[in-house]
Amino acid sequence: MSVGIDDMAIYVPKLYIDSKDFAKARGIDPHKLENGIGMKQMAIVDTNQDPACMAANACLTLMQKNDLKPKDIGRMYVATESALDESKAMNSFVIGMLEQIYGEGSFEHAGGIECKFACVSGSYALYDNANWIRAEENNGHAAIVIVSDIAKYDLGSAGEYTQGAGAIAMLVKENPRLVVFDPKVTSTIIKNEYDFYRPFGRETPLVNGNYSNYLYLIQVKKAFDSYKEKVLKTGLIRINNDESITDKIDYFSVHIPYRKMGEKALAYLLRHEWRHLKRWKQIIEEVGFEEPIAKDPRGTIESILADEDFMKSDEKFRRAFIKTSFFKQVFEQKMLSSLEASAIIGNLYTASMYMGLRSLLEFEYKKNIDLTNKRIGFGSYGSGSSAMVFSGVIQEEYKEIVKDMDLGSEIGNRTKLDMTEYKRLHSNELKINESFSDHKKEFVLVKIGGNTADKAGKRDYLFCN
Ligand code: CAA
Repeated sequence: MSVGIDDMAIYVPKLYIDSKDFAKARGIDPHKLENGIGMKQMAIVDTNQDPACMAANACLTLMQKNDLKPKDIGRMYVATESALDESKAMNSFVIGMLEQIYGEGSFEHAGGIECKFACVSGSYALYDNANWIRAEENNGHAAIVIVSDIAKYDLGSAGEYTQGAGAIAMLVKENPRLVVFDPKVTSTIIKNEYDFYRPFGRETPLVNGNYSNYLYLIQVKKAFDSYKEKVLKTGLIRINNDESITDKIDYFSVHIPYRKMGEKALAYLLRHEWRHLKRWKQIIEEVGFEEPIAKDPRGTIESILADEDFMKSDEKFRRAFIKTSFFKQVFEQKMLSSLEASAIIGNLYTASMYMGLRSLLEFEYKKNIDLTNKRIGFGSYGSGSSAMVFSGVIQEEYKEIVKDMDLGSEIGNRTKLDMTEYKRLHSNELKINESFSDHKKEFVLVKIGGNTADKAGKRDYLFCN
């Protein structure tokens, strides 16, 4: 049975900050933000927005554009790491909002949960719902998986220039028009780690920046090794001598905490995949020096970080490697389009890889490339930490959906915040009703809590006509 993503809809908040304003205010070289991180603009939520109403807005767009009724949907999952409640799941808030449009109780027949594992949980949610359909437990219904997050870091921290916000809703069904997931090859890895985490009561995470970068690379590569074993065993991908399975994957879509990280992830993977092939000799000639070898051959996060000399020379090698014609060709053909959205929206945690997929489809289509039957390899990473590698094939009907994709018009006119306005928003100094932009045809938050203890965390939302 073919199961996968039939359509997707995005919601991006209408406020943003510009990298030049940000660089000036923080005394950072603007080239570092634009080139070193890859950030031009970061989306910021308004006073009356939260991850639940962004999720509901993306879901409503998905349902309206596909003329879906609640009775067509059997499951609704929301994956997020911006939870609003320790107990009440975010999808219940979303259903409450959607029932303002579709009628009270209209989703009662459906099911679903909120999923958490940092940025990777949306991929687990898609996998579980695809398997629900494969197992024919769905009774003809489709599933909706929504990924929604606000990436917010402490003022003045190194994470502050990797913020962002947004949501994506994806329709998962049989015989989808966009992407069919490859069966029996999805691979995961899991380990107890403290690279990035947000203890109870904190609005912003605690981050071990460099450690998190390395861990991401190592964990995704490990999950990829297991994926590789499965695709070769099942015969999904066949390779000849002196080939890597990365040669047979047409596109790469990976977790994008910031644009530059996509490039780093691809470089790490290709170095491991190409090192033993004939082309490596020519690559080394282009680089101009040998690839450094770590003292400890295990390549664990601990052994790498303990070896400072290796780290320094390895970084030098990576910078030279990404300039080689071999890397550039693969990066430009197979990844670049997936990174365009990240530069103007920022990190979306659970939604960032799926915004990357959305970006890949739109910008490759605009190049007039025929995407039918092209295979996309996905590298999903969640701090804490778990990685999931899987793949899918673009279907012939993709054009029906992708022809209407236009990030610029879908995001719409945005309001640029100055750094004073941004700081007041970030510090939660403003009341819910002191919003910066007009909200039309979307859900907003109107009230949190009441005067009595039993209403303390209750959230009220309204659809603005
Ligand atoms: N011009 C051009 N480039 C410049 C520059 C300049 N003037 N100055 C510095 N740069 C480059 C640096 O060379 C570096 O690029 P390379 O890595 O290619 O060498 C880049 O800018 C970043 O600079 P630093 O190495 O000095 O790093 P930083 O201190 O700015 O921190 C960060 C970067 C660690 C990502 C930090 O922003 C952070 O902690 N972010 C949050 C955590 C994060 O996103 N981790 C990613 C992996 S974990 C994950 O993916 C889960 C998740 O979503 C959070």
